[in-house]
Amino acid sequence: MRVLITGITGFAGSHLADYLLAEHPEVEVVGTHRWRSRRENVAHLEGRVRLLECDIRDPSATRDLVASLRPDAIFHLAAQSFVPTSWKAPHESLGTNILGQLNLFEALRAAKLDDCRVQIAGSSEEYGLVHPDELPITEDQPLRPLSPYAVSKVGQDMMAYQYFHSYGLEAVRTRGFNHTGPRRPPFFVCSDFAYQLVRIEKGRQPPRISVGNLEARRDFTDVRDIVRGYWLALDKGEPGEVYNVATGRSWSIQEVLDQLIELTGLDVEIIPDPERMRPSDVPRLEGDASRLRAATGWEPVIPFRRTLEDLLDYWRERLGGVQGIPA
Ligand code: GDD
Repeated sequence: MRVLITGITGFAGSHLADYLLAEHPEVEVVGTHRWRSRRENVAHLEGRVRLLECDIRDPSATRDLVASLRPDAIFHLAAQSFVPTSWKAPHESLGTNILGQLNLFEALRAAKLDDCRVQIAGSSEEYGLVHPDELPITEDQPLRPLSPYAVSKVGQDMMAYQYFHSYGLEAVRTRGFNHTGPRRPPFFVCSDFAYQLVRIEKGRQPPRISVGNLEARRDFTDVRDIVRGYWLALDKGEPGEVYNVATGRSWSIQEVLDQLIELTGLDVEIIPDPERMRPSDVPRLEGDASRLRAATGWEPVIPFRRTLEDLLDYWRERLGGVQGIPA
């Protein structure tokens, strides 16, 4: 079975490749990357995965790739995934996420790959404004997106729905709630705080940590659990259906910060940074993953505290000598 992972060099893509190689030896893993993508997340997989250059925003390159590779399944993870970037560059976020997926879908149609299953990585950000009496969030919750990024994910989600109903494209939609772990870039909240704390440990930053909105609450899953959910949704889920991937409990960002500080044993000053505040921020996300559980048996197994420990260890190792990360 040949599986294509778009965006394999990214955070979730690289963990998905690790998971497939470890648990599904029958799968041949092929991944796309852009020419300027950093490769360090998949460097350890050299010789075990095939990497192909393709910018999903380029319709003809995407069409050629799909026609020549003829994958049995696709995990579509290539995307602009950082919410603040979408405020600064909405055109880029909407273009990459929505039109990139359109290019992929049209490439599948052109190649007549009718049996190719495609996992579409939606997001809990699609739910956006959720009232307290609507928690935990099921897939039937109305979508009230609060950022350009969230709108782009609603677009991808609805496009997959439409292609399934119009053309029978075997798209399985997932709505992943927040996820973190090793290899998370240092601008997403847990990794951002872990990165700063490790810099403080190493004496590279004064004992002050910059933070944004500490009141938001997010439902965090370890990325290694999330990618297993993606596989199970694609393998055992219903084409056309949508599945939340979540733990069902939330942590305030203040609680996340407190846990990370406690794990380091540091004494740090907390500095609110207005630059880190957003024009609007989703206040609280807690997902109900019963549908995925019932369809596939998926359960998250890695406790959040261990994820945070692994994230700190990741930065301790990275900042211990590897080139390329600004100190
Ligand atoms: N990044 C960041 N940095 N966020 C901060 C900070 C900070 O210093 N301080 C507080 N926050 C708050 C944000 O305002 C937000 O409420 C929360 O921490 C999480 O922020 P991010 O880690 O940047 O993630 P996100 O929730 O915006 O989006 C992530 O999760 C989505 C699923 O819900 C991303 O991974 C998306 O790609 C994903 O779809």
